[in-house]
Amino acid sequence: MTQSINIYDQQLSDDEIKHGLHRDMVGGMWEELGTLQLDFLKDEGLLPTDAFLDVGCGSLRGGLRFVEYLHAGNYCGIDINHSLVLAGKHELEQAGLSEKQPHLLVDDNFAFDRFGTKFDFAIAQSVFSHLPKGHIVNCLLGISRVLKPQGEFFATFFEAPSPAYSEPLLHEPGGVVSYFDRDPFHYSADEFDEIAHQAGLSMRYIGNWGHPRDQRMLGFRLR
Ligand SMILES: C[S@@+](CC[C@H](N)C(=O)[O-])C[C@H]1O[C@@H](n2cnc3c(N)ncnc32)[C@H](O)[C@@H]1O
Repeated sequence: MTQSINIYDQQLSDDEIKHGLHRDMVGGMWEELGTLQLDFLKDEGLLPTDAFLDVGCGSLRGGLRFVEYLHAGNYCGIDINHSLVLAGKHELEQAGLSEKQPHLLVDDNFAFDRFGTKFDFAIAQSVFSHLPKGHIVNCLLGISRVLKPQGEFFATFFEAPSPAYSEPLLHEPGGVVSYFDRDPFHYSADEFDEIAHQAGLSMRYIGNWGHPRDQRMLGFRLR
């Protein structure tokens, strides 16, 4: 079982969710980061008919936008934090989107096959920045079991200039400092290339996609 080691161990109360604290817990910038994710996926070819997986969906900052865009039943979101998933359901109700039948799961082991479907597209936005390397390998192995042959999984990360880069790195815009050995983590693109191969995937470096805190984008496909 994957052991969580980050702030996402904490569970929000119902009252905190009613007051919107879940929006801060996933990093704020609610509208901006939701819209950015949907616009990016649409540019990459996401269609309303596609099956879509949101890894580390949190309280549906991107999820709300995806559920709105996709046909009913085509959105699947999975997260380790039970209270954030509950908050996501609250957001869906508030937005009048519950009837679009999104599938939401709480899971700590990247068991994406629990949805019982294969995906055209998937994303993990601001998730790998919180994960040590072994968890990322597990995530990519899970992805390799649920991607359609032509499907693509996108993931954001804080970029380091070289593998095992042990100095703290200041990222601008955003002012976040990332680390080699603690959350928020940074990795080099070469490290991801190696991890992708271990998981039977090929990696595409996309880089800057307009993230307000300087997270870069990668794409992964089946080999
Ligand atoms: C910064 S938030 C991003 C949430 C969402 N992707 C978004 O853009 O709003 C990081 C999310 O990753 C989730 N997470 C962290 N470790 C995880 C794991 N091992 N499995 C699934 N989700 C995880 C956290 O609970 C949290 O919801």
